[in-house]
Amino acid sequence: MNICIIGTGHVGLVTGACFAEIGNQVICVDNDEEKIGTLKKGKMPIYEPHLEELVKKNVDEGRLFFSTLIEEGVSKSSVIFIAVGTPPKENGEADLSSVEKVCSQIARNMKDYKLVVEKSTVPVQTGQWIKRLFNLHDSHQDFDIASNPEFLREGSAIHDFLNPDRIVIGVENERAANILKELYSPIIKRSFDSSLKSSLVNHIPLLITDLQSAELIKHASNSFLAAKISFINAVADICERVGADVEKVAQGMGYDPRIVPAFLEAGVGFGGFCFPKDLQAFIQIAGKFNYDFALLKEVERINKDRPRRLVEKIEEALWVLKDKTIGILGLAFKPDTDDMRFAPSIEVINLLQKEKAKVKVYDPVAMDRAKMILKNVEYGKNPYQVAEGSNALVIVTEWSEFRDLDLAKTKSLLASPIIVDGRNIFDPAKMKKLGFVYKAMGR
Ligand code: UGA
Repeated sequence: MNICIIGTGHVGLVTGACFAEIGNQVICVDNDEEKIGTLKKGKMPIYEPHLEELVKKNVDEGRLFFSTLIEEGVSKSSVIFIAVGTPPKENGEADLSSVEKVCSQIARNMKDYKLVVEKSTVPVQTGQWIKRLFNLHDSHQDFDIASNPEFLREGSAIHDFLNPDRIVIGVENERAANILKELYSPIIKRSFDSSLKSSLVNHIPLLITDLQSAELIKHASNSFLAAKISFINAVADICERVGADVEKVAQGMGYDPRIVPAFLEAGVGFGGFCFPKDLQAFIQIAGKFNYDFALLKEVERINKDRPRRLVEKIEEALWVLKDKTIGILGLAFKPDTDDMRFAPSIEVINLLQKEKAKVKVYDPVAMDRAKMILKNVEYGKNPYQVAEGSNALVIVTEWSEFRDLDLAKTKSLLASPIIVDGRNIFDPAKMKKLGFVYKAMGR
């Protein structure tokens, strides 16, 4: 099939590369000339494992192209995916101005039937707005609108695309459903040739719904996962008060097949550009339809308090923070990404600096991005440089590199043997035996 993907962010680029990988002709369009220039040179604007090799392979094999011109993408394709950003406005509502702009451009340039698919995470009923916008244009061309939410995790996005746990398609008629079914059939039948294919899931459910339900599935899924994290973080606080261990509590809960262990890791909370933004957008859109989603407001409140809880623990260990040096390990919002958007590290550092502590940091891949955000911090080349002379070492992101730290060496470098672990990566008994003052979350 001939496909156009508009927006070459994380979602758009991964979607484009993967659709090309399963045999389609794909043109990825972005109005950011610098980004398209970078991509044309074979360089990736974001860090995502395997993306560079996948893009290179498909460009070399003549299936993947980049352009700054929407008209080129529209004229060459029958299926157009919208994957532009939907950032939060000040009140938390999703800003749909890029979606609207792109839709107007598609409508103006349509010369024959197009299937326009929402891939960006959008509030429910956006599809109806898009339909209205297309109907207002007098191009008299036939079109369908579909919603096809993505469930890609940063750091394993390509694997997730090619090995999905479900494919959701929201449509208004059979014609649109059939096009998308055909497009995804190599993934469902696992009939494409990729080294990234794994046989983890044998049967991939394909769920066909109306537009509104597909849109809601995305917001409801992310909010539910966020709720799971805030739930276990609330339990972690109770564990601390009563002398229980949240890791054991989560383990005991996770054996229940109705609960499962995933997303029950207590810590400094969730970040990234999906959960915080989608939670707010879901609360806002629910409010617009006169539903006060108080449950999700509480999920958000618990999460916002996590960095403060971590800093409180540093204070409990050090008493006064002023003029102390705090070493921070991990800046990205989670491991295997350089994404700093809504990363808990930002608020942790902000709170420490408010108390006039000095901050040293290290992250395996996110330091370049961090330099655009963080002020007055010292960057270490490795975890040991950060530990050297610090009064406490704080784990904010659970990179595997930190799990494998030489703890004896780390202890000898620290000014005082204090580790505050915002991700519960170490065994408290072992840390005690090694002579650390070890503080974790909910243990
Ligand atoms: C999330 C969803 O997992 C994807 O399914 C979805 O497609 C994506 O958002 C999106 O909407 O685009 P992602 O933001 O990449 O993916 O990250 P996750 O792996 O879900 O982690 C989110 C945050 O939750 C991270 O900060 C992580 O550290 C935190 N987390 C996760 C916890 O604090 N505890 C846990 O048990 C799990």
